[in-house]
Amino acid sequence: MAIIGSDILYAQRLLTAGQVVAIPTETVYGLAGNAYDTAAISTIFSTKQRPSFDPLIVHVGSMAQAQSFTTPWPSTAMQLAQYFWPGPLTLVLEKNSRIPDIVTAGLPSVGVRMPQHSLALSLLRQLPFSLAAPSANPFGYISPTTPQHVQQQLGGNIPYILDGGSCVVGLESTIVGFERAKPVIYRLGSISVEAIEEAIGPVSILEPAADTAPQVPGMLTSHYAPTKPLRIGDLDALLAQYSPQEVGILAFDRLHPAIAPERQVVLSPSRSLREAAQRLFAAMRTLDALPVEVILATPVPDAGIGKAINDRLKRASH
Ligand code: TXA
Ligand code: MG
Repeated sequence: MAIIGSDILYAQRLLTAGQVVAIPTETVYGLAGNAYDTAAISTIFSTKQRPSFDPLIVHVGSMAQAQSFTTPWPSTAMQLAQYFWPGPLTLVLEKNSRIPDIVTAGLPSVGVRMPQHSLALSLLRQLPFSLAAPSANPFGYISPTTPQHVQQQLGGNIPYILDGGSCVVGLESTIVGFERAKPVIYRLGSISVEAIEEAIGPVSILEPAADTAPQVPGMLTSHYAPTKPLRIGDLDALLAQYSPQEVGILAFDRLHPAIAPERQVVLSPSRSLREAAQRLFAAMRTLDALPVEVILATPVPDAGIGKAINDRLKRASH
């Protein structure tokens, strides 16, 4: 099993030696390696059993670091970084030759993010290289939001998990790309469409592609999924199709009276979308581990971060 601790120097030593380390970010835990070291990057892919066509996000501790491996940015990209970095926003920019092709799955662009978590930022600012890091889960499963989530699934294959507590955001970063310099949202996240439009004006949103022909690899519709089938919709209508002993419920603000409370997780009794986002992935894992056949979930109000929560529920239901 991996060691869990908060020793930044030890994490730094391992990363410098070409090893991979799980690191906390404000969104989810990442599985990090030196972005310039192709051997470390292939360890990330093999540890996650991630297909080589799915590109990684490169994490930086400064603007200068980000600019050192990208070509000059569209002005809206610069504005977005100024508004939201450090924070849960990934920008897809044109890369230069410093970033090995294996990091970007051969794409000419690279996802870049400056995380806000203080441990991640200190680590990045002490390292002479950037960190490529996908979420620290086996490919296709729910992203980890605690060190224990990482330990349960990848602990046997990695030396160290840097413990930064539970992730405060709980959903992966919002991803914005630029098509002929026009901003396009590739993945919804905790930085809402509304907040982005307030910063830079109207943006378009890329619809998730079908599993077989992803335009953008991480847009695979079936992703972020528990092993149990998950169905999303009106709970009363869904419950009519199952016997009560078969189901677990992922509820937004209250328990459903027809189902035993121990088979239910309520995301936010006070109807806070932030709290619901923070608890979503842990709740899916809890329900996935119960002796139930199917997980039934209600969508949350579809505004702000609620859109990103509903997006993850939809992907989990494919
Ligand atoms: O919040 C997050 O973004 C977390 C933390 C660890 O930073 N990371 C994360 O990484 O969610 P991952 O690998 O699980 O998802 C990253 C997604 C990829 O699946 C891909 O869709 C997109 O980012 N991506 C990365 N590079 C890209 C590129 N060059 N073009 C388009 N999409 C890209
Ligand atoms: Mg992921």
